[in-house]
Amino acid sequence: MGENGFEKWVLTVTAQTPTNIAVIKYWGKRDETLILPINDSISVTLDPSHLCTTTTVAVSPSFEQDRMWLNDKEISLSGGRYQSVLREIRSRATDFEDKEKNIKISKKDWEKLHLHIASYNNFPTAAGLASSAAGLACFVFALAKLMNVKEDESKLSAIARQGSGSACRSLFGGFAKWIMGKDEDGSDSVAVQLVDEKHWDDLVIVIAVVCSRQKETSSTSGMRESVETSLLLQHRAKEVVPKRIKQMEEAIANRDFASFTQLTCADSNQFHAVCLDTCPPIFYMNDTSHRIISCVEKWNRSEESPQVAYTFDAGPNAVMIARDRKAAAQLLQRLLFYFPPNSDIDLNSYIIGDKSILQDAGIQGKNDIEALPTPPEMKDAQKYRGDVSYFICTRPGRGPVVISDVSQSLLNPETGLPK
Ligand code: ADE
Repeated sequence: MGENGFEKWVLTVTAQTPTNIAVIKYWGKRDETLILPINDSISVTLDPSHLCTTTTVAVSPSFEQDRMWLNDKEISLSGGRYQSVLREIRSRATDFEDKEKNIKISKKDWEKLHLHIASYNNFPTAAGLASSAAGLACFVFALAKLMNVKEDESKLSAIARQGSGSACRSLFGGFAKWIMGKDEDGSDSVAVQLVDEKHWDDLVIVIAVVCSRQKETSSTSGMRESVETSLLLQHRAKEVVPKRIKQMEEAIANRDFASFTQLTCADSNQFHAVCLDTCPPIFYMNDTSHRIISCVEKWNRSEESPQVAYTFDAGPNAVMIARDRKAAAQLLQRLLFYFPPNSDIDLNSYIIGDKSILQDAGIQGKNDIEALPTPPEMKDAQKYRGDVSYFICTRPGRGPVVISDVSQSLLNPETGLPK
């Protein structure tokens, strides 16, 4: 290890990893421990400048145990999922040497050395925006860099998968596919990149974070109940998804927005139909979610070709993918017409992320929202003020990166404790 005799060194790596939203959904495991799914899934990666996890990992001979801080609070690493990931990463660690700092760590040393990990999500963990996907992907990516793991992103994705299924797709930018695999040990259940973020850079993503009073069923228990009770889920996994995956891959390769929209909306709706087909039924969407679907469906039908796709995960939030900036601006006008902010919220905190879409929509202040006309395709001019907490405007984004700027490290480089 360190050859200066004092063993005071602390070695750190900081990484940033995006979240992702499935457009062909993962719902149902065939192995709960290894996290192996019953069907393939496809996702779009969201721009990490708006939604991401930053994680700093550190190693030092002075650390007495593995410790982790999430969003400034210390959390336990004793859970099975963190332990599986730590074991898998440690077993792939290789020799490391930093001649300048006089640090040498052999493959065997990694087994004994303890780690400090600090992680921060730049969006509320409770907003239901797949924070565990970005979080576990960042955990694996940062540790792999620290421990000099030589495996490629797909191999790392199989490790991230064991922490949180959908985390495997967050190791890639653009669009990614999680291949369900056949092997019992899960070694072929990996994610691959379909296209990078530059391939379809017209797309704009608008997320409505919907207010909800209800405590949602966790995805883990929801999936388990669907696997045990829903016949529709079996049909979906065997007959529907394999065809949809092929069609979706084609739609993405050809930037065919009409097919992309048809497949994305149909798959989200089927996933929620499976939830209703579960005994007892699970309701993730609420009235606001249903109103957003109606608004988008009516608008798409009134146009020559679809302008926006929608998809909902295990919660009420709507993720909408607009074909280009013009469609995104028109979408925002419609959403703000129906869901104006409460009087105590300012426009800057009601629409976050890429605010330039607001300018395209001609909205400079809250008065412009109140003056929006009823969308021409809608007769119902009723408003639902305050039913959306806030909107996030973003786009498809890149995969994980190492951040070399030490000022962004979440751990003190001398003590290895949170800054
Ligand atoms: N779960 C939610 N966010 C996380 C993070 N940033 N790291 C690890 N687990 C998480």
